[in-house]
Amino acid sequence: MNANMSRGMFITFEGIDGSGKSTQAKSLVTALETKGMSCVWTREPGGSEGAEAIRKLLVEGDPDRWSPETEILLFNAARRDHLEKTILPALENGQTVISDRFVDSTRVYQGVARADLRETVDILHKTMIQQEADLTFIIDIDPEVALKRGLARNSGEDRFEDMGLQFQKDLRAGFLDLAKQNPNRCKVIDGSQSMQDVGKAVLAAYESAMK
Ligand code: ADP
Ligand code: TYD
Repeated sequence: MNANMSRGMFITFEGIDGSGKSTQAKSLVTALETKGMSCVWTREPGGSEGAEAIRKLLVEGDPDRWSPETEILLFNAARRDHLEKTILPALENGQTVISDRFVDSTRVYQGVARADLRETVDILHKTMIQQEADLTFIIDIDPEVALKRGLARNSGEDRFEDMGLQFQKDLRAGFLDLAKQNPNRCKVIDGSQSMQDVGKAVLAAYESAMK
């Protein structure tokens, strides 16, 4: 670790299931690495060995497997390990960290769409995590289009997709509200465009945020 190196930037991608976040997070890593930047791609739930083990508990199985309250605890346990083992060491090393989901997903999935638990989410975040992203891309898309894309993958990690179309509509509204509340940090990108055009819009928003 270089003591003179400035702290890296923390960028997150958020959105409903199948919105194209993972595609775009990876594509931004490639674009920034092409410019010579050192990046770390990561994801939630997961991103460290312990958090990946917790991920399996969360994304597999019956939609009723966990209550929203238990989910909040599991996501925070995973996030704390991810933060300690992956995110903070990379940021301290001056690297740009790009995460496919972070706390905004808990704010919207558990805080708004699963249950009205936003206050609980905020209290736990303040106590156990604290870290916020410097820049967040919210990939916005019609849930019917996204649900088809998501379910087409048939990955066995469909517990949240199985909660249905209205759930995805509530999520979309939740993410758009969050963007309105945090206009400096959150950039809403139209995810219905081609992969290349979404990628161009992300890069343009990144460049304008860096000015
Ligand atoms: P998420 O991480 O938000 O669930 P993914 O990036 O995994 O979404 O994309 C879900 C599916 O949709 C994948 O099969 C991916 O190849 C496809 N996809 C992603 N972006 C687009 C796009 N702009 N247009 C069409 N298909 C896309
Ligand atoms: P992910 O693998 O990103 O799903 P997808 O590719 O379908 O978008 O995330 C797994 C699921 O976990 C996803 O449905 C969203 C959910 N989730 C929460 O409910 N709360 C959270 O805090 C996080 C990080 C994810």
